[in-house]
Amino acid sequence: MRKKTFMICFIIILILCAVIVIGGCGAHQAMPPEGGTDGDVVTASGDGENVTDANTDDSQTGKEDPEQSDEPEETEKPAEKPAEKPAKEPDDADAPSKGSDKSVRGIPDVIDTRTKDDGDLLVVVNKYHAVSKNYKPKDLVTIDNKYGTWNNMELKSEAYDAFLKLYKDAKKQGFNLKLCSAMRSYSTQKSLYENAVATRGREMANIRSAYPGRSEHHTGLAIDVTSASMGWGLTQDFADYPDGQWINEHCQEYGFIIRYPKGKTDITGYDYEPWHLRYVGVDAATYIMENGLTLEEYVGVE
Ligand code: DAL
Ligand code: ZN
Repeated sequence: MRKKTFMICFIIILILCAVIVIGGCGAHQAMPPEGGTDGDVVTASGDGENVTDANTDDSQTGKEDPEQSDEPEETEKPAEKPAEKPAKEPDDADAPSKGSDKSVRGIPDVIDTRTKDDGDLLVVVNKYHAVSKNYKPKDLVTIDNKYGTWNNMELKSEAYDAFLKLYKDAKKQGFNLKLCSAMRSYSTQKSLYENAVATRGREMANIRSAYPGRSEHHTGLAIDVTSASMGWGLTQDFADYPDGQWINEHCQEYGFIIRYPKGKTDITGYDYEPWHLRYVGVDAATYIMENGLTLEEYVGVE
């Protein structure tokens, strides 16, 4: 009897041991796996971060990359990368129409594309109204190099004559002006735009630099004016300098307007550019400047 009782107790102990061992293994399998896989995906600590860093050049040279160790940045990166792709879009003037930013601050759909210069001094070339890749203004003349910060720039003759008058009168006031941009080809604008995207990012580039085919510099009626006092550069400070103020007050007398006025970005699509003048003729320029309008408002187009 005692032997039987002993056997029963022994079997019960054996069963209990088996239950404990099986239960322990099950609990261990339910825990997250240790080592590489969890760290790769979720955490910025431990092995996972080291694995990520090992894939960058910086980590190989021992340099610290703050973005790599910043968790929110890590998760946002995949969403940012596609934004770099549109840098190749200028190959096709219509490319931005396909699902791109519809706001005037972005690159909205083109409404029309002009292929020939019909001599209209009020022609609007902006984010909605483009010119074709091979658009060539009529009556182009080469600007005397002494008026430019670059050689062999070109303008439509009527705009050039007007600039020469403005230049001479500015000189009488003691201002030393030069042109740092005039007519631009599609390929020149493409380079400028791509450079702006690379240096400023696409969002900022889009309110400073026109997409190729959509710059009014293509018309041969637009100029960028700089001065000795500005160190021949282009900044918004120009508006605060005596020569910039004089241009702002008198450009219409020569047929020019400040094409991208302050506070009109939602209409023009561009930030304030006190240096960018557009030739439209004296009557239109006088009306536009005296009434604080943009060319879009004056002509009545988008
Ligand atoms: N900066 C003006 C908007 C242009 O690129 O034509
Ligand atoms: Zn300009």
